[in-house]
Amino acid sequence: MNGHEPIEWNDSFATGVVEIDEQHRILVNTLNEANAKLADNVNIDFVEQITQDLLSYALYHFETEEQLMQKNGYIDDSAADADRHLQQHRSFSGKVVAVRDNLRAGIPISREDLITFLNGWLINHILNTDKKLGAFIVAKRTAGT
Ligand SMILES: [Fe+2]
Repeated sequence: MNGHEPIEWNDSFATGVVEIDEQHRILVNTLNEANAKLADNVNIDFVEQITQDLLSYALYHFETEEQLMQKNGYIDDSAADADRHLQQHRSFSGKVVAVRDNLRAGIPISREDLITFLNGWLINHILNTDKKLGAFIVAKRTAGT
């Protein structure tokens, strides 16, 4: 995959947790829109606006997942996975903040580098980390009914 291809949603992305999957679809759409807009506009203020908007939604989404972790006992029952998961959220936010701060300081990032990082991180995180959390929550919810 290179940074110019939009992410196509497919069933392998589904975690089985409706709240998470809905937000993931929004994140995928947001990234695809950003990718398309960046094709014809690489103005530094515009790129900064995109990273800022994405960061806001990503933080909101991480909060949703982290509340679900708390509520379903993931942090107690799967401490190592939960820890790794939280670290991935922190490192993503840290990287996007760094990109945004660089942009604010006039240091650009190429569309290719930005989109490759964002798309690569999201797909990898959904497939390897969120799906684990999803399976845990689905099992809890099934056991609770
Ligand atoms: Fe996550």
